[in-house]
Parts: sequence; C-alpha cells; structure tokens
Amino acid sequence: MVKVEPFAVEQATSPISLSTKLTYGAIRGSEELRGHLARVYSAEALRGLPHDNILITSGAIQANFLLHYALVGPGDHVIVHYPTYQQLYSVPESVGAEVSLWKARENDGWTLDTEELKSLIRPNTKLIVLNNPQNPTGAIIPRSTLAEIVNIARSQSITIHADEVYRPIFHGVSPADSDFPPSLLSLGYENTVVTGSMSKAYSLAGIRVGWIAARNKAIIEKCMVCRDYTTISVSQLDDAVATYALAPHTIDNLLHRNIQLARKNLEILEKFVEAHTWACEWIKPRAGTTAFVRFSRDGRPVDDVAFCKLLHDKVGVLVVPGSQCFGRDGDFQGYVRVGYVSETEVLEQGLAKLSEFMRAGYVDDVPLAR
Ligand SMILES: Cc1ncc(COP(=O)(O)O)c(C=O)c1O
Repeated sequence: MVKVEPFAVEQATSPISLSTKLTYGAIRGSEELRGHLARVYSAEALRGLPHDNILITSGAIQANFLLHYALVGPGDHVIVHYPTYQQLYSVPESVGAEVSLWKARENDGWTLDTEELKSLIRPNTKLIVLNNPQNPTGAIIPRSTLAEIVNIARSQSITIHADEVYRPIFHGVSPADSDFPPSLLSLGYENTVVTGSMSKAYSLAGIRVGWIAARNKAIIEKCMVCRDYTTISVSQLDDAVATYALAPHTIDNLLHRNIQLARKNLEILEKFVEAHTWACEWIKPRAGTTAFVRFSRDGRPVDDVAFCKLLHDKVGVLVVPGSQCFGRDGDFQGYVRVGYVSETEVLEQGLAKLSEFMRAGYVDDVPLAR
C-alpha cells in the first residue's frame, strides 16, 4: 500500500499561517505587499513612493486593462510603442480611443525616434504607452530616451504609462551603464504610471498578482473606482505569496536566480542563431525573457504562421508567429518570438528539435511569406 505523507508545512518559512482566516483581506492589497513595492520603486528614485500610490491587481493584464479603461475613452488619442503586447493598443481602441503606433526602428536596434513621437502628438493625445523592457524584442528604452519622452509629455501634460512587467530582468545592460533604464516613476514627472507583475521577473505567474503604481494618486483612485466593479480584492493567499517573494530576505535571491538563468539561456539561444545564420537573424535581446528572431530563405521572409504550425506538428516545439501575434498590416513577416527563459534543459531540448527541423524540413516544407 502506498503511504501518503502528510502535507509538509514549514511554519518558519511559510508565507501564510495556517490559522489565517480567509476573508476578502485588504481591498487594495495588503499594506505589507504595497510597502515592499513602494520600497522597490523608492530605492531608485529621488522621491519616495508612498504605498498608497500602489493598487494590487490580478496580474498585469488586469492592471493594463483597468488603467486604460479608467483613463481613456471616445475622443481621446493614445500613442503606443510598437511592436508590443497586443493588449496595450487593443484595449484603448476597444474603449473608443484613436491609437497611433510609435514604431521602434527595427534596423536600428529597435530604438525609438523622439522626433517621430512629437509628430504623432495631437491636441487630444491623452496617453503615451511604453513597454520597457519590450515584449517581443527584448529591447530596452534607455534612460536618455526615457528622459526625452518625459520632457515631450510634460510640455503637453500628457500622461505616460510604462508596462514594466519584464523589469528588472536586465542581462545585456549593466546598472553602471549611463543608459541603464530606470523605472518611469523615477524620472520626476507627476503624470507617470507603471504596471508590473509577479509573472515575469519574479517567475510567479501562478499567483496572478500585478499592480498599478502611479506618481499621481488621482490615477490610482480612478482605477480603484473601476476595479470595484470587477475585483473586490486579490486573493489573500496570492497576496501572501507575493509579499513573501518581495520581502528583503527573498527578492534579491529570486531576481539573481532569474537574471542568471536568462543570461545563461540567452547564450545557448545565441549559439543556435549563430549556427543558423543562413536562415535566421536577430537583434540580440538586452532584457526580458523573449527574443524576436527573423527566419528567411534566400533573403525572403518565410510564412511565420506556417513555420510555427509545421514546427509544432513535426517536432512538438511551440514558438509564436510574429506577424500574427505582434504585427499589424502585414508587419513582422517571418518573425517568431522565442521565450527562452524556461529551465535550461527544456530550452536545450527545444533547440535540438528545432535544429533537427532546420536540417530536415525547413528548406523543403516551409513556404515563403506572400
Ligand atoms: C508586456 C506584458 N504585459 C502584461 C502581461 C500580462 O502579465 P500577467 O501575467 O501579469 O497578467 C504580459 C504577458 O505576457 C506581457 O508580456
């Protein structure tokens, strides 16, 4: 007979006591959790961030939705950094705002041109949305560009939102570098708001904890009013795990582990790209956990959707088609997004299968983009 071991509870290290009554808990998120986040944002800014300027949400996906739902509507214009997580332009559109995409320059390392930003601004521009570090490219918006964006927005009283879920997974830029990107909240402009999450940098997607943190508390209050209709509070258990993960005795170890893993896996992915320059090219990511790799044949992009389907069906490896998931109007043909910060063995096995496919099926089976 199989002996079932009793569930092991390590009281000393448990993030929540077993005698905790499971109520709605703290409506805006526990003071302890918001306090840890306030400490993280305050550490890099000249001015501290009070914990009341932070609202806990069910992941960053809810944080982004709430923020855009609360801040923009019909008659407003929103400028969104592109390519990016589709939610960041689709939600403003769905609530009736006009959206302009501010395209990062692919042939210049995915950098942003602030002169172009100026040209996109209209009298009704309400919000500029950034994603730093950026999904899918793994590029960063450096400090100097962030400072220029702030100056432009300040001169027209436009609010800036940065989705910072991949912060602080920086592996290709050092904190000592003058262009190391600070959080948008550190740049001394009142109308700045960021969203963040436990899912990426802290590798705890399973607890569904994200947040909105704003310099201007009125933004938090607006979001709070809207959140009342969807979320009474975030699970007390999730809040407790996040509080534990962000506590001073845990956070540095957790981030160290994740940044090291990202760095190690990126080297492995780089070897793959270097071994397949006949078919793929990239701008090596400097941060985050995703890479945007362009696959081509004889200089022409492949059909990335067909490529991803074939790869999945033939060898069981899943990568994301760039034109379908990140492109508008036919952009990013041939690109695929590779999430490379899994366990190292999983990445190695996946890349071995991909190499096998590159040898045996790529040239004959993958069609070119139309
Ligand atoms: C840029 C970006 N923002 C937000 C999210 C949503 O994150 P969460 O898991 O915290 O809801 C994602 C998820 O992939 C993302 O890439």
